[in-house]
Amino acid sequence: MKEVIRASGIGKKFGETQALKDIFFEVNEGEIFGFIGPDGAGKTTLFRIITTLLNPDEGEMTVLGLNTAGDFRELRKCIGYMPGRFSLYQDLSVEENLNFYATVFGTTVRENYALISDIYSHIEPFRKRLAGKLSGGMKQKLALSCALIHKPKLLVLDEPTTGVDAVSRAEFWEMLKKLRQHDITIVVSTPYMDEAMRCDRVALIQKGQLMLADRPQKIREGFGRKLFAVRAPQKYRLLEALRKYPLTETAYPFGDSVHVTIRNNIFDASLNEHLVRSGIENASITESEAGIEDRFLELMKNRI
Ligand SMILES: Nc1ncnc2c1ncn2[C@@H]1O[C@H](COP(=O)(O)OP(=O)(O)O)[C@@H](O)[C@H]1O
Ligand SMILES: [Mg+2]
Repeated sequence: MKEVIRASGIGKKFGETQALKDIFFEVNEGEIFGFIGPDGAGKTTLFRIITTLLNPDEGEMTVLGLNTAGDFRELRKCIGYMPGRFSLYQDLSVEENLNFYATVFGTTVRENYALISDIYSHIEPFRKRLAGKLSGGMKQKLALSCALIHKPKLLVLDEPTTGVDAVSRAEFWEMLKKLRQHDITIVVSTPYMDEAMRCDRVALIQKGQLMLADRPQKIREGFGRKLFAVRAPQKYRLLEALRKYPLTETAYPFGDSVHVTIRNNIFDASLNEHLVRSGIENASITESEAGIEDRFLELMKNRI
């Protein structure tokens, strides 16, 4: 498999803030590689280094076999970047934005239309509308079209689904999958852990450090504990009660249940008694398979 990105010991400081520390990873051709991490984890800083906009203080970043610090002119032609706050010109119309990006990269919309047609067709009926007047989902599609219009080999998307409704988020991931047919490698960041399963591989990043990178299924399988799903009608009260139970190690809300790990992995009647004493009758407790979120929370907690 051909390597598209190689990060070797990347470090970056802003004053006293260590934004990135000792980052190593590789991304292979055709992969959708996700970076998941909370606000301030270092995702944008890392993406700015990958896209040649920022140089690392330490280590070396290689993209498509070229060094991002030295060969940035060559590389910028091969990379499509969609920054976190969409880089659209609010006072230009949809089609003016697209034409602008095509011109900057010395190409035309017509030349590469096939690549974006699936995505752009959703917003083409509104091509005369100002970008500033589009909905979040439509802005996202236009920004993606603009990032693709010069047919990049590597597409870098910084939190493309943040602030976008659930339907548009799902649609967006479907569009990314389709881009695979065009031999585009995709690096994408998100603060939403549930989007991890959509990537071929994901890296968890926290406080500037890369905690692990693997296939989502492998990450789930690494959960080392027995996990219990507890359900009761008053979820917030249930969560509080579970956190007060002396043998609880972790308790996190998940959909309609609370996921709990218990010391020694054994729960007995005392848990139910504790819940009843806390005013929660008829709680259902079942053993559950860990999701990727459970593993991430476990890793983050161990680090703190
Ligand atoms: N230009 C900058 N100047 C000073 N600090 C910065 C700058 N860019 C990022 N940081 C800091 O570096 C850390 C990582 O930020 P960032 O890469 O934006 O994280 P993320 O994108 O995961 O939210 C944060 O503590 C942030 O405040
Ligand atoms: Mg960011």
